[in-house]
Amino acid sequence: MAFVVAIDGPAASGKGTLARRLAEWFSLAHLDSGKLYRATALFVLAASADPADPGAAVAAARRISPAALGDPALSSEAVARASSILSALPAVRAELLAMQRNFAARPPALADDARPRGAVIDGRDIGTVVFPDAAVKLFVTASPEIRAERRVKELRERGAPAIYGDVLRDMKERDARDSGRRVAPLAAAPDAITIDTSGLDADQVFEQASDIIARALAAHRL
Ligand code: CDP
Repeated sequence: MAFVVAIDGPAASGKGTLARRLAEWFSLAHLDSGKLYRATALFVLAASADPADPGAAVAAARRISPAALGDPALSSEAVARASSILSALPAVRAELLAMQRNFAARPPALADDARPRGAVIDGRDIGTVVFPDAAVKLFVTASPEIRAERRVKELRERGAPAIYGDVLRDMKERDARDSGRRVAPLAAAPDAITIDTSGLDADQVFEQASDIIARALAAHRL
C-alpha cells in the first residue's frame, strides 16, 4: 500500500498551497484532484455542452491528458462553477476515481528524477472515498469570508477581475453544492485531523501539517 497523504477542504481553504509545499518538502508526488474536475468542465464548456449532462461530462472526463491539467484557463470562476455541477454526477466521479488511484499506485518521478516516497492528493473526498486507508488525513478549512479574500487576491494576481461580494457568493454556493451532494460530498473523514487556517499564515499551516507527516513517515519507516 502506497504512502498517501489525503488533504480535503472547501474552496480556497489553502489546501492546494499546503499540498504543493508538503510534496516538495517530503519528496511526494502531488495531485490536485480539483484539476481533474476543472479540466472536465473546461472540455464541456468548450463544446458548449451542459455540465449537468452525464453523457457530455463523462466524454469530457475521458479526454483528460497531462497537458489539459496545465491549462491556465482551469482557474477561472466559470470553470469552477461548471466543475462543481458535473462533480455531483456519479458517472463522472467513477471515471475520475481510477485516475486518482492509479496516480498513487504509480506516482510519477519527481522534478529531479527521484522516486517519490508516496503521494499527496488534495480535494473534497480524498480521505473519505478515494483513499479511505490513507496514512495521513487532513481537513483544511477557514471561514468563508477569509477564503473569499484569499481567492480574490489569487484571481487579481493572475490579472483576472474579481469582486469580493461576487466571489463570496459563488464560493458559498459551490460549497453548499459540494457538501450537499449525494455522492462523495465534501466532508472530513472521521479520522482526519482538522486544521482551521483562518488565523494562520501559510508557514504556520505548513509547520502543523509537516509535524504530522514526519511522524507518519517515521511510523511507516519511510
Ligand atoms: O481550488 P478550489 O478549492 O476552489 O476548487 P478545486 O479544488 O479546484 O475543485 C473544483 C471543484 O471540483 C469543487 O468545487 C468540487 O465540486 C469538485 N471536486 C470534487 O468534487 N472532488 C474533488 N476531490 C476535488 C474537486
